[in-house]
Amino acid sequence: MLNLPRIIAHRGESALAPENTIAACELALSNGASWLEVDVNISRDGELFLHHDDTLERCTNGSGYLVQKTRDELRKLDAGSWFSETYAGERPGTLDELVELLATKNGGLNLEVKPTPGWEYPLVDAVSKRVKNDWPQNVPLLISSFSPLALQELRKQLPEAQLGLLVSAIPDDWQNWMQRFQCNTFHCAESFVNQDFCEQANEAGISVLCYTCNDANRAEELLSMGVSSIFSDKPSELARIPG
Ligand code: G3P
Ligand code: MG
Repeated sequence: MLNLPRIIAHRGESALAPENTIAACELALSNGASWLEVDVNISRDGELFLHHDDTLERCTNGSGYLVQKTRDELRKLDAGSWFSETYAGERPGTLDELVELLATKNGGLNLEVKPTPGWEYPLVDAVSKRVKNDWPQNVPLLISSFSPLALQELRKQLPEAQLGLLVSAIPDDWQNWMQRFQCNTFHCAESFVNQDFCEQANEAGISVLCYTCNDANRAEELLSMGVSSIFSDKPSELARIPG
């Protein structure tokens, strides 16, 4: 069982630094976050990059699909200028860089496996290989995905891993989905959770995590319903809520 914190930094400290960059992750950790959530995808030649969208336009100065670029092409991009001049020149971060950073800070990681449709197998293979290859013992790991195919393959390749079922709205047959992939935690959009659902999940020994909440009052409400952890773009601000 994982010891999850109440607040998890969503894409790093992403309200104050460009999402999913090492700078945003460093900032979240230095501001006191103990766990980070990042999205991961794969380059054409197999490097794992921290990136949310299938395409590069929104968060870098590149264009097109990330999966069609090589590591070297991606490392030449600027993933910071779109956010602010302060972060100009920030390179797209890799999972290896992040793991190294987390190991120095004893930070936990929720790795959201975010495949571009058609690239589920290469992404899961690379993530599984990385997890099996000398993952630092002081970096607790929870892997989640919206993709049923990714979850199925992750469970096959990583029978011991902590896996989170990630959805937007809560499906009526959510427990069947949990069982199908032997998931440990349940992640959903914050607008869909309610007290009844949390009680049902918690009675079954399942922690509920929800995204994305940047408001302290709403965060308190969610925690009082029985939500275990909240993904926030403003983790340092929400960390101040009492309790
Ligand atoms: O993992 C929680 C949350 O990050 C899922 O949605 O779109 O922000 O990756 P998204
Ligand atoms: Mg995410």
